[in-house]
Amino acid sequence: MTDYRVKTLEYGHSQAAAFLKNLQDLVSIPSISTDPDHKDDMLRTANWLADHLRQIGMEHIQIYPTAGHPVVYADWLHAQAETVLIYGHYDVQPVEPLDEWHSGPFTPEVRGENLYGRGTSDMKGQIIAAISAIDSILKQGPLPVNVKFMLEGEEEIGSPHLAAFMQEHTDLLKADIALNPDAGMIAPDLPTIVYGLRGLAYFELRVYGPAHDLHSGIFGGVIHNPAQALCELIAGMHDNQGRVTLPGFYDRVRPLSEQERSELARLPMTDESYLEQTGSPITWGEAGYTSAERTGARPTLEIHGLLSGFTGKGSKTVIPAVAMVKLSSRLVPDQDPKEVYQQLLAYLHANAPKSIRWELIEMQGGKASMSDPNLPATQKLAKALETVWNKKPVYKREGGSIPVVGDMQEILGMDSVLTGFGLPSDNVHAPNEKLHLPTWYSGIDALIHFFYNMGEK
Ligand code: BES
Ligand code: MN
Repeated sequence: MTDYRVKTLEYGHSQAAAFLKNLQDLVSIPSISTDPDHKDDMLRTANWLADHLRQIGMEHIQIYPTAGHPVVYADWLHAQAETVLIYGHYDVQPVEPLDEWHSGPFTPEVRGENLYGRGTSDMKGQIIAAISAIDSILKQGPLPVNVKFMLEGEEEIGSPHLAAFMQEHTDLLKADIALNPDAGMIAPDLPTIVYGLRGLAYFELRVYGPAHDLHSGIFGGVIHNPAQALCELIAGMHDNQGRVTLPGFYDRVRPLSEQERSELARLPMTDESYLEQTGSPITWGEAGYTSAERTGARPTLEIHGLLSGFTGKGSKTVIPAVAMVKLSSRLVPDQDPKEVYQQLLAYLHANAPKSIRWELIEMQGGKASMSDPNLPATQKLAKALETVWNKKPVYKREGGSIPVVGDMQEILGMDSVLTGFGLPSDNVHAPNEKLHLPTWYSGIDALIHFFYNMGEK
């Protein structure tokens, strides 16, 4: 190891408390992108990041307004080497149900080895890890590689304005490779590189029956209950093999090769680990596929929320006038969110009974993406992870979605290397989100190694 590397790592370790304090400050700002009440908090977060990037010595710092939340940009371009575009999202998911949190979602608290708070793992912790690695290197001297940051505020709502931003700023964002630390690890002792992500097509479906709520005795048996009609429609969206029944849904799904199946089978993603992580009695899913295949390489359709009629205390005998469901489909290559919308429309036209009216609202969407696991930058990341964990990383296809990865491939012609230091047990998007600090500190070391590796031939 060169002197520089050793000094940088030592410096990073000496700053452990300061890095954590930075993360706590960032987590304290409630940057919930989906909630219009938090619009000002989004700008405050962008400002915090811009100030912080300036403090560590990044240059050309800009906050770019978009039609939605702003994008933070910064760079450092004095190396005779390649350029890495570091991606991050500073927005977070909503925090409800609030009463299940053991400490406030925006009052980050260390308990045991974890930092609790919304965004600690997904992904403010990952942003601070990358910034801390760059900070540590810059304290010793010049960066071994050119670096650009692009930090957006809309990932958790599907990055609706980022594609347009990238289209308008192709020169600004030009780089050899993107580093995306928004994908987690399988386990704390298992560094992970993600080479595939699922896409998403999100919808709201509303079903209308009578003009207003009805007495269920006077009208029950005569008027089709919209809650029942909606449930019947939803129930028909899967067959008894766990397959999605929307017409044409699987037409474009790229089949799994035998080689990929055997690679996925080697991952420690067993049914036992899924049961342990979820507390569910048994696993469920599309017949003929393992759990790792079902999450990484097969598409799904999920119900996120249902609303209809009386759900308060006590009882009320009513036929509700309306029923609503939020649902989405996770997509794999080569499905298209627009086509899935058409398929859902076709399903509803074919199956909705005459007794109700319905309305389908298309919400966010994004395509799945696949990255080449043999890119030189991926190998440099693999080497960095191996240096820190003393173990070769595993390569996996992730069930979650990060829309920017596919958009970057299309718009900037740029591929991403994906990793991250969050864990399946981090409760992301759920109450008591947390970050495992020992893993996070190892992650900062790994990123330091990665940037040095990128500066070497
Ligand atoms: N970081 C996640 C995606 C992820 C989750 C990667 C788990 C690896 C492991 C990301 O922030 C996310 O949650 N994305 C949303 C995107 C959607 C709203 C378009 C998702 O997957 O639900
Ligand atoms: Mn997320």
